[in-house]
Amino acid sequence: MAKKKTDNTENVLHSELDLPDDERDRALRPLRLDEFLGQKEMKENLSIFIKAARARGESLDHVFLTGPPGLGKTTLAHIIANEMGVDFIETSAPALDKPKDLVGILTNLKSKAVFFIDEIHRLKPAIEEMLYIAMEDYELDWIIGQGPAARTMRLPIRPFTLAGATTKAGMVASPLVSRFGITCHFSLYQSEDIAAIIRRSAGIMDIKIDDEAVALLSCSSRFTPRVTNRLLRRMRDFAQVSEKNSIINLELIRYGLQKLQIDNLGLEKQDREILKMIIERYNGGPVGADTLAISVGDTVDTLEDFYEPYLIQAGLIERTSRGRMATALAYRHLNLQGSRGRDEENRFLF
Ligand SMILES: Nc1ncnc2c1ncn2[C@@H]1O[C@H](COP(=O)(O)OP(=O)(O)OP(=O)(O)O)[C@@H](O)[C@H]1O
Ligand SMILES: [Mg+2]
Repeated sequence: MAKKKTDNTENVLHSELDLPDDERDRALRPLRLDEFLGQKEMKENLSIFIKAARARGESLDHVFLTGPPGLGKTTLAHIIANEMGVDFIETSAPALDKPKDLVGILTNLKSKAVFFIDEIHRLKPAIEEMLYIAMEDYELDWIIGQGPAARTMRLPIRPFTLAGATTKAGMVASPLVSRFGITCHFSLYQSEDIAAIIRRSAGIMDIKIDDEAVALLSCSSRFTPRVTNRLLRRMRDFAQVSEKNSIINLELIRYGLQKLQIDNLGLEKQDREILKMIIERYNGGPVGADTLAISVGDTVDTLEDFYEPYLIQAGLIERTSRGRMATALAYRHLNLQGSRGRDEENRFLF
């Protein structure tokens, strides 16, 4: 729900602090395809497939959603159900412990429902096998009895759409991947799309923000809508307490980014730690992901899923077969090796 601005700063801050960011994200989550900004080609194709399935009165083919965190996989799965006008049932692979968990869900699905499984690369083999038949034939293999007397029965289920999301497409078994008829691969957003997302979110949150501020914020959001919305909320906090809270401008964004230690390439402190580690400890690389993750105190998943896509897109690291390497741009950005003229503060000048 949109939050109205009030003059009582205390109240707003307190009420907002009680909610985790993800819960507030829901208010900003687009519900229809035309509110889902960016990813143009993917959206155009999906819109055609949805129209065609609706016209035929069928369920949409199974959809595989892949890409880094915070780009809109879960959001798009919800949108598909909304656009198809069907039920949405949500779970994640680790929650599907036993085959009976899956049977329970699938036998209760309404016709054409969207069944969303997050982190689909983490499915247990027994569940995965069961899904193959469910996806292909809308049937379930159910074992009755035990030992030599055990028999397999096939139970029919209603047609449904499996929407499987993952940040690690390479870890999903190929027989499963091949059963998805539609693949939506998310890549980092264009800065114009991020700018449009800032304007939309600002409208919902009743925040006034000028064009220059939108431009700078969009370059500092890792081309990721979730980061965009979080940064916008933090900027609103800075605006409120600075008492110049009528409009968010360039000056305020610069101030806010500096406070959050986000630099002119949109890098956070941990991004810089990663680059520094590769350059200073490992002579610029190559260094393996496991070693690098341990060195910077993060998990390999966080390193690979969250930090690396942006560092690669920004041209600061390269992924080679022998490991991660820092690029010349990374050396220049951190003022390392030969260009020590600039002081630490200069990185925050825009
Ligand atoms: N195309 C978009 N247009 C507008 N807002 C978006 C878009 N994509 C994502 N968002 C916003 O970003 C937030 C994060 O998106 P979402 O939770 O769908 O990402 P995700 O890909 O499922 O991430 P994870 O891999 O961490 O589960 C959403 O709550 C929504 O507010
Ligand atoms: Mg998600």
